[in-house]
Amino acid sequence: MRKIFNPKVFQLVYVSLFTPDLARVQDHYVEGIGLNLTDKGDKGELYLSIGYDHHNVALHPGSESAIANIGFQLKPEIELAEFLKDAEAFGIRGQLKTDSQPGVRSLVELELPGNLNLQFYNDIATPAPGFRDVGVAPMRLGHVAMMNTSGDKVTEFFEDFLGFWFTDKFTDFFNFYTCNKDHHVINIVKGPENRYHHFAFELRGSPSHAMAADWLRRRGVKQEWGPARHPASHNYAGYHRDPDGVMIELYTEMDVFIPELNMFEPRPWHEFFPMVPRDWAGGDLNAWGAEFTCKLE
Ligand SMILES: [Fe+2]
Repeated sequence: MRKIFNPKVFQLVYVSLFTPDLARVQDHYVEGIGLNLTDKGDKGELYLSIGYDHHNVALHPGSESAIANIGFQLKPEIELAEFLKDAEAFGIRGQLKTDSQPGVRSLVELELPGNLNLQFYNDIATPAPGFRDVGVAPMRLGHVAMMNTSGDKVTEFFEDFLGFWFTDKFTDFFNFYTCNKDHHVINIVKGPENRYHHFAFELRGSPSHAMAADWLRRRGVKQEWGPARHPASHNYAGYHRDPDGVMIELYTEMDVFIPELNMFEPRPWHEFFPMVPRDWAGGDLNAWGAEFTCKLE
């Protein structure tokens, strides 16, 4: 029987990072990427917004670079206490927190294997500071790729508990899942460490790639890979690193998923019709054939 697409969450809203170099990292995200500083926490945390939500990136002072937490918005009909009870029944520990961070009154924090803290909430403040016209100036936070030493358990949680839809895999390394129309909202990277592999901002349009790369280069930041088109998900993507070495993707033209048909909206650059979820084992990362030194690991 066909799977019913009914995920408990509908969007990724924020990624939070521990950083040992708060001032430099803040400078990258505020002046380089072009985010707004909206709030500060009691322990020196900085909350940064692309233009609408209270925060899309949170920077936490820490001894080393690491994932602090990742925030997903639950569908309105999902009640927090019930969600926590269901997660615990699924074998995941967590707690209900109130006023634990600015902008999010109540949330459930779940502890996934591999030291992965995921936060789920119904509402986030939307001060709408506006989109800035300096820096990379992205449009939205689109997806997060997390490397995890217990990758199978994490994919099981997203697929079987949260109801995400599997949309592609690229070798055994990258595993793509979505909870909305985007080809992927999460990418679970089965690897030897627990860390961000990368997270991704969608740009306003494809010409923005050149402007973003020019701007970053002027600030001394080099491109690690691309911009070029990926085969899996067909996003036009470029990668650079923040001052802590965390990889950031800037992308446009990502495949649009149609869950009712288990396929992606057809595009002129697709290799297959219909384009359906597949295993891209053995393929290259670059649809245009260029070989970059960085292998995106
Ligand atoms: Fe990505």
